[in-house]
Amino acid sequence: METQPSLTAPEFEIEDKTIRTLMGVLYEKSSREEQHSRRVSGYCFALGTQLGLSLEQRIQLGKIGLLHDIGKISIPNTILDKPGHLLPTEWQEIHQHPVNGHRFLSAVVGMDEVAETVLAHHERYDGEGYPHGLRGQQIPLNARIVAVADAYDAMVSARPYRNCLTHEEAIEELRRGTKKQFDPEVVQAFCDLMDGASEVPKPSKSLPPRA
Ligand SMILES: [Fe+2]
Ligand SMILES: [Fe+2]
Repeated sequence: METQPSLTAPEFEIEDKTIRTLMGVLYEKSSREEQHSRRVSGYCFALGTQLGLSLEQRIQLGKIGLLHDIGKISIPNTILDKPGHLLPTEWQEIHQHPVNGHRFLSAVVGMDEVAETVLAHHERYDGEGYPHGLRGQQIPLNARIVAVADAYDAMVSARPYRNCLTHEEAIEELRRGTKKQFDPEVVQAFCDLMDGASEVPKPSKSLPPRA
């Protein structure tokens, strides 16, 4: 009998003590960020399976999901939790989080690949993302995977100024973003993954992460 894919990640151990501490600080600062990171970790791990990646690569992806927004620890809660729209200067601060995360992670021996992925997780397939405007295959595969998992989770989370999207609407948005924001192959894998899942995530009442 074929087993249905799980969207929940196993517990991944972050070996480095300093990074583990930083991750704990972010999670303590915001339970919303913790829940978001855990869900993204689960989607990334499952996407790795869907894309036929090795167990080692999938574990790496699961860890990246947990750590992708670690750079947000230097963003004040007044910005992270601000209801409604942000000012341009506040967006500038938010846009620093991949760079901050890269700085923390690249200081750790053996975490170079994780650091590069975190740096690139807000790049867009069409080159319109940040911080470096990389496009297509210039963006590391793991970062293209995180981008889809991250966007889906943000879309199915409620916003103070509008309701969250349903699962179907979020899938439609991902498809619309193919070749613009997202790698087409990763979007297709995500759709196939969700088609095979026993239960799709319910729209969440929690606020979405900022970026
Ligand atoms: Fe992010
Ligand atoms: Fe995120």
